[in-house]
Amino acid sequence: MSETLENLSSETRRFPPPADLAANANVKADAYAEAATDRLAFWAKQAERLTWAKPWDQILDWSNPPFAKWFVGGELNLAYNCVDRHVEAGLGDRVAIHWEGEPGDTRTVTYSDLQKLVSQAANTLLELGVTAGDRVMIYMPMIPEAAVAMLACARIGATHSVVFGGFSVDALATRIEDASAKVVITADGGYRRGKPSALKPTVDEAVARTGRIEHVLVVRRTGQEVAWTDKDQWWHETVEQASPEHQPQAFDSEHPLFILYTSGTTGKPKGILHTTGGYLTQTSYTHHAVFDLKPETDVYWCTADIGWVTGHSYIVYGPLSNGATQVMYEGTPDTPDRGRFWQIVDKYKVSILYTAPTLIRTMMKWGDDIPAGYDLSSLRVLGSVGEPINPEAWMWYRQHVGRERAPIVDTWWQTETGSIMISPLPGVTETKPGSAMTPLPGIGADVIDDQAQSVPNGGGGFLVLTEPWPSMLRGIWGDDQRFIDTYWSRFEGFYFAGDGAKKDSDGALWLLGRVDDVMLVSGHNISTTEVESALVSHPSVAEAAVVGATDPTTGQAIVAFTIPRGNVDAEGDAGEQLIKDLRDHVAKTLGPIAKPRQILLVTELPKTRSGKIMRRLLRDVAENRSLGDVTTLQDSTVMDLISSGLKTAKPED
Ligand code: WT7
Repeated sequence: MSETLENLSSETRRFPPPADLAANANVKADAYAEAATDRLAFWAKQAERLTWAKPWDQILDWSNPPFAKWFVGGELNLAYNCVDRHVEAGLGDRVAIHWEGEPGDTRTVTYSDLQKLVSQAANTLLELGVTAGDRVMIYMPMIPEAAVAMLACARIGATHSVVFGGFSVDALATRIEDASAKVVITADGGYRRGKPSALKPTVDEAVARTGRIEHVLVVRRTGQEVAWTDKDQWWHETVEQASPEHQPQAFDSEHPLFILYTSGTTGKPKGILHTTGGYLTQTSYTHHAVFDLKPETDVYWCTADIGWVTGHSYIVYGPLSNGATQVMYEGTPDTPDRGRFWQIVDKYKVSILYTAPTLIRTMMKWGDDIPAGYDLSSLRVLGSVGEPINPEAWMWYRQHVGRERAPIVDTWWQTETGSIMISPLPGVTETKPGSAMTPLPGIGADVIDDQAQSVPNGGGGFLVLTEPWPSMLRGIWGDDQRFIDTYWSRFEGFYFAGDGAKKDSDGALWLLGRVDDVMLVSGHNISTTEVESALVSHPSVAEAAVVGATDPTTGQAIVAFTIPRGNVDAEGDAGEQLIKDLRDHVAKTLGPIAKPRQILLVTELPKTRSGKIMRRLLRDVAENRSLGDVTTLQDSTVMDLISSGLKTAKPED
């Protein structure tokens, strides 16, 4: 039996669900058995959560893998499911969105308001000549109109493609071209770090470059000066003047809903395509099951940007299909100060919080006293997504945010999977800090070795999905071959996620980072995640990124970039001592094989705009190469800081 990835860490802490939550949970333990007995019947039952205009004839058509069709022959309208049906059910006055602008201005959008706005926007898009199947780009700040724009597209069957508002002209223009879009919806700008940050100039340049765009719809948010062309129309002069009456029309279950681009490693972004019925079924069900949402009483807040899939599935489609009341925040977590998130939780009595490990580690670095200054007693479920969450960050989240009460759901999924796939259920699962635990009911996942054999408990390897799932990507826009090559060719019959993972002695799943990042040290495959988590488990460390650098003796050697916590003295001799302690600490925690050759104390790490650590750039630094592509970096000055630190630090013995 060949193990593909070492299993070095072990974890003994366990946290059973709170008794009252378990007793009243939306989904209980029987769901696993039910789904295992008849997986397709289970998903058909979840599809009944939605309102269909025409029932499906077949639950799943998997006759032409990897091209799946779910709820074949069924028809529905997604905007109707997310908005109108709640109003029809008498819930028009329920708040859909408590919006908080960065400067502190607020808006309250009820489901009735949303119905009016979405209908008006749908009418405007129709007037601009957008018809079902057309592509519309959305390039917006975090304002309610972003959600309205997406829902208006869904309402008329146009396919939206949201581009994150921090992306460049080049990124936007390439995506407009690839999707052959004809309309862009944008804003003059949005507030970030205390000042207006312009969006319209980027759109102007991208539109001029492609020549494809016929109309640009512009929301006035900041009031900053904008250039104007005859393609431009103000949202308040069109949408807000349009008729609020619009009859939603039903679309086929497999009608394209959105394209969302992921950067990938080979330069050209992949346009991940999602469709209608299966996507909404799984986002709606998982939002109900994983967050235990009680729409009458909960206040839900997902801190992601609408430009990422998390914003699509767990700000727009999942929560709204469930009639949730949610908070939407425009700005950054440190404006006007580092307590902003907790101030928002306190103000709106947020009960379910969904955020990312990068934010949790940042909050750890800022210090425990900041969340301690706020009333967080409303929180009852905490979620994490985007990267492996280190056990120490998990414990910090539990202690300082959840105050030892709220269960944590570490949710593994991808842009490609559309919805959560692997996660605890908050009323069922006894959680382990750092583990995403088990596949959700109705989901098939496994860890296999390089021979495609399932690894035994205690073994590590490649994470694969073994069964088609309702919200799976239906392809890469315009490139079926790349879809097959990227996800379905490495292991026959399995979806290859690109992540390393291990099963612990109980069979719980631990995500170990992208397989491209795995380090090969003296013949051992060591995951970056395990070494990073060992570093973060030291009380002086807030964050760490680990890479394998070429080494004459060991093949690759472990180089760690480490951010000390806010209160730690890391200067001069104290710094040297800390580095020595950390190397010993890793060796003690994981074994001598995982001892870093070199540890650098840094103040920042290079991250993508969605907060993932860019280990590729750190590898360039560790191997003294000139830096590769830095255009996706969140902050371009970070690499200078890190490189200059490296020159003064001596490699250890
Ligand atoms: C990749 C997908 C899923 C929405 C946001 C990211 C990593 C995501 C976890 C988790 C460990 C995770 C994986 C995955 N990832 N969630 N809970 N534990 N790793 O979407 O940008 O498509 O990234 O993010 O590496 O493959 P994405």
